[in-house]
Amino acid sequence: MSYEARDYTHLLGNLPGFSDEQLKAHLELYRGYVKGTNEIIDKLENRDRKAAAYAFGEYSELKRRLPVAYNGMWLHELYFDNLKPDVDDDGSFREAVQKQWSSVKDWKEGVVATAKTGPGWVITALEQTTHQLRTVFVAEHHIGWMANHTPIMVLDMWEHAYMIDFGIEKTAYLNAFMENLNWEILDRRYRAAAAEVHKNVSDAPRNLNYVHAAGGGIG
Ligand SMILES: [Fe+2]
Repeated sequence: MSYEARDYTHLLGNLPGFSDEQLKAHLELYRGYVKGTNEIIDKLENRDRKAAAYAFGEYSELKRRLPVAYNGMWLHELYFDNLKPDVDDDGSFREAVQKQWSSVKDWKEGVVATAKTGPGWVITALEQTTHQLRTVFVAEHHIGWMANHTPIMVLDMWEHAYMIDFGIEKTAYLNAFMENLNWEILDRRYRAAAAEVHKNVSDAPRNLNYVHAAGGGIG
């Protein structure tokens, strides 16, 4: 089995603020993560389990690096998929954001603040037990990811995502990103995530009655 890189050439010339040079470089990097994921999986299929070791061993190193390559692939797809201006959304994610943070503006300010936390990813996700939205920061592609959360909005804050077009002007990149955010995709992701409530099967449902303080969206 191998993963195939998805085609995002429809984005070229269609994202105000983003040059073809910037997007092509970013897409090339994304394809590198797809290739890396396939290479690691191939090697694991021909594994030597006896080489597993905490200190060092090829098998263990492959296991450690798979989430980096895989998340690098998967998060880039979520990122490119949630870019495209001028789409019609049904307002379901917008409504959830307003309920959680009191306003879209407040949510965006939380995203921007999280984006300044460091290079990596900013993800607004739905916590599947309580259905609370939460904006989280993920370093590299895997450090800080919270279990039991489903990504809705994914923002790439690695410098390669904006340096060609925006240099060190993160705010200009964030403004362009927000202008190109595909709210229709966010609606679809939100509706799919909100249709599920994950319960720990060994436990009574916990925190299901948890109610967020009005206007107190996390992040
Ligand atoms: Fe990236």
